[in-house]
Amino acid sequence: MVSRVIPVDPFDLVIFGGTGDLARRKILPGLYRRFIAGQMPEDARVIGAARSELDDEGYRKDVRDALKEFVSKRALSEENIAAFLSRLHYVSIDAKGEGGWKKLAQTMRDDDDVVRAFYFSVAPSLFGDLAERLHLHKIAGANSRIVVEKPFGRDLESAKALNATLAEHFDETQIYRIDHYLGKETVQNLMAVRFGNVLFEPLWNAQYVDHIQITVAETVGVGGRGGYYDKSGAMRDMVQNHLMQLLCLIAMEPPSRFEPDAVRDEKLKVIRALEPVEPGDIVRGQYEGKGKTPSYHDDVEDGESRTESFIAMKLHVSNWRWAGTPFYVRTGKRLKARQSEIAVVFKDAPHSIFGEAAGRHRNILTIRLQPNEGMTLGVTIKEPGPGGMRLVDVPLDMSFADALGPEGDEIPEAYERLVMDVVRGNQTLFMRGDEVEAAWAWTDPIIEGWTKRDERPFAYEPGTAGPEESAMLLHREDRRWREIKE
Ligand code: NDP
Ligand code: BG6
Repeated sequence: MVSRVIPVDPFDLVIFGGTGDLARRKILPGLYRRFIAGQMPEDARVIGAARSELDDEGYRKDVRDALKEFVSKRALSEENIAAFLSRLHYVSIDAKGEGGWKKLAQTMRDDDDVVRAFYFSVAPSLFGDLAERLHLHKIAGANSRIVVEKPFGRDLESAKALNATLAEHFDETQIYRIDHYLGKETVQNLMAVRFGNVLFEPLWNAQYVDHIQITVAETVGVGGRGGYYDKSGAMRDMVQNHLMQLLCLIAMEPPSRFEPDAVRDEKLKVIRALEPVEPGDIVRGQYEGKGKTPSYHDDVEDGESRTESFIAMKLHVSNWRWAGTPFYVRTGKRLKARQSEIAVVFKDAPHSIFGEAAGRHRNILTIRLQPNEGMTLGVTIKEPGPGGMRLVDVPLDMSFADALGPEGDEIPEAYERLVMDVVRGNQTLFMRGDEVEAAWAWTDPIIEGWTKRDERPFAYEPGTAGPEESAMLLHREDRRWREIKE
């Protein structure tokens, strides 16, 4: 397979928070990978901006260390690192004060052909200050773009306020709200599979689909992000954004084109069609400690915390396509394995001509987001050999790494694709303001519900599939979760 790399326009990308964890772990390594793929034009520049007092050389040294830590060894060469670092600059700036803004204005190139992009990789409390000062100092103009990290608010009210603040200085077409799940290769493949094949779409509805499962299981705990996480929990941190986006892509009607508003209009309709969730259809969990593994309470240093590190829910999308087909979603930390997948479980064949003794198997289409990105379709065939007709389920298995040749294992990471989309001016894989607000409008009453009921999450042992109660969500309906495999 020949990989096609389309160079982007020259750009000045300012990373506010350029010394922070996200910049060092994801954004800068992603830019480096795009650089070695040949996608960064000669005159593209990256400008780190944060309060730390550094000069260009000091910043380059810091980024060199980050690349060594977070880029695979085989992608690193001294020559490439040096060439990439030469594109890097640094301005010491305070989002809340006046220091550094004049220097930033002088550093930017005054050329209409150079795209100006500003990545807000700082605490959300600084988003408004940055937007205001970029405007005040005339650094951002009509052709500039801003990239806004999550969390985008913590409820509908704060999301609306943030949208309003950003809208004072930027048009919606200039605002790129990141949900990095939309940048994952397999997530985009979901759309290719649905809308690029004639095979699946006729069956993609309540008549043929029994139910859908979305699982995002992580092995990590909340680690160093306890302060943020304890105020969010799995619902705000993962469901309101990442799982919601996956659900939208699975459930939406075919957009007329793969274009920003066409796609986002369809996603918005799905979010608005989500029914409120009954308390009995929600299971929240919190990991216990085991051996040397700290408990959630230890991790967040609050023995009384009732924040969930696991959540499972049964959801309904109330429209003609999906009425009667439940969507089961779950996500959690410190589970058995890192496994993210979507399973579309089709209904039984309406009649078995082979008799019940031959056995019956359902077709299941599994889309693996990570690890081992790919898809499996379970198909029923005859068990080989004499002795009558016995049916078995065999997988038609496709791993992208195997199927797509030598580059298959070099699948671009979410952040590198998304940053390049910003430079290209393509908002298809970014959330629109109304989408984020609709997601909070659905999320808020659910959180208010369990807060009012003063519910404690169920405890679960680390290294499991979450609390036992989550299995009951499906067992009571004669269904079961797909196994989270170590
Ligand atoms: P960090 O705390 O690691 O980094 C914060 C950055 O902001 C630092 O570069 C810091 O540098 C800078 N900063 C802090 N205060 C100011 C200020 N007043 N003016 C200018 N710069 C300032 O945070 P993360 O990198 O982890 O997160 C950044 C954003 O990304 C947050 O919104 C977070 O929610 C989001 N995010 C992070 C993820 C992650 O895995 N880390 C995942 C998903 C989203 P200095 O102190 O030198 O000013
Ligand atoms: C982030 C969440 O948005 O996504 C984290 O804040 C979570 O809590 C992470 O660990 C998961 O992303 P990925 O790409 O590792 O599945």
